[in-house]
Amino acid sequence: MSREPVGHEPVLLTETCGLLQPAAGDVVLDCTLGRGGHAAALGAAAEDVTVVGLDLDEANRAFAAQRLHDAGIAHHTSCGNFVRAPEALKALGLTANVVIADLGFSSNQVDDPARGFSFLQDGPLDMRLDPTGPVTAASLLAALPERELADLIRRHGEEPLAGRIARKVASERLQRPIDTTGLLADLIREAYGARAHTSRQHPATRTFQALRIAVNDELAAVQTLLDRLGRALRTGDTSWLAPGARIGVIAFHSLEDRPVKTRFAALVREGLAVDLSSGPCRASIDETDRNPRSRSARLRVIRSTTR
Ligand SMILES: C[S@@+](CC[C@H](N)C(=O)[O-])C[C@H]1O[C@@H](n2cnc3c(N)ncnc32)[C@H](O)[C@@H]1O
Repeated sequence: MSREPVGHEPVLLTETCGLLQPAAGDVVLDCTLGRGGHAAALGAAAEDVTVVGLDLDEANRAFAAQRLHDAGIAHHTSCGNFVRAPEALKALGLTANVVIADLGFSSNQVDDPARGFSFLQDGPLDMRLDPTGPVTAASLLAALPERELADLIRRHGEEPLAGRIARKVASERLQRPIDTTGLLADLIREAYGARAHTSRQHPATRTFQALRIAVNDELAAVQTLLDRLGRALRTGDTSWLAPGARIGVIAFHSLEDRPVKTRFAALVREGLAVDLSSGPCRASIDETDRNPRSRSARLRVIRSTTR
């Protein structure tokens, strides 16, 4: 095992393995390897499982690959967006029996101030899951007209004070670049005014979520993955998705969970899948006490009915 700490506790691990039930010889597609927690557990759940995994973050990919190697689990990993997962499988000549996507970011990413995801620690305003990507949160804040910025914060953050925050940013950036998480968090707090004291969440929570989603085009990626899964089931395409495949998605906020819920429900209605999780599966009190991040996690699992 690598000497670097894992730094991330996989959420709903028992539930994920129980619902996705890898069988001997199965191929598990992990769309979001992260630190390899789900991949290692799914890979060890039966004999001769092969894990095919992707991650946008090369450091996480490499860590997960080492973890799978150390556990003696056959694996093929690549750095890239999960929207390309079908191509990754086809290039290997493999079809997935199990698919898992554990969306968003890992704890080691958010806990590293240099990555710029956290409003609790000062660092560069970056937020890229792929540190080689072209757009940072700071470059978005510098480039977007005030109205578009307000729209982005409203749509991706569901932030009621989006207009005030965008106005604050637009006036401040005339004086100096907004390029640290600390400065942005302070500006948001100022935009909140007295409401900052009564807000249940940290005032920066929604705006940081909105920027992270935009920087990484996260909602488009989820929609594309769901499109590709749906198309495979509707056309009976078994070139990368095996008949009877079990598909699980873990979402952490409603903007991500809503399309998963809607698309899965449509596949069930069309008789192309059955709902294995009976709606969203949530973390137990034990788990939320141990790992507060699991509080917002919702796991939905379907099984393809194609034979
Ligand atoms: C919640 S973590 C996954 C944690 C993992 N299940 C574990 O047990 O360690 C999400 C991971 O997905 C990656 N990621 C997010 N969006 C992605 C995308 N569109 N394509 C590939 N990887 C993505 C992030 O870089 C992060 O490493």
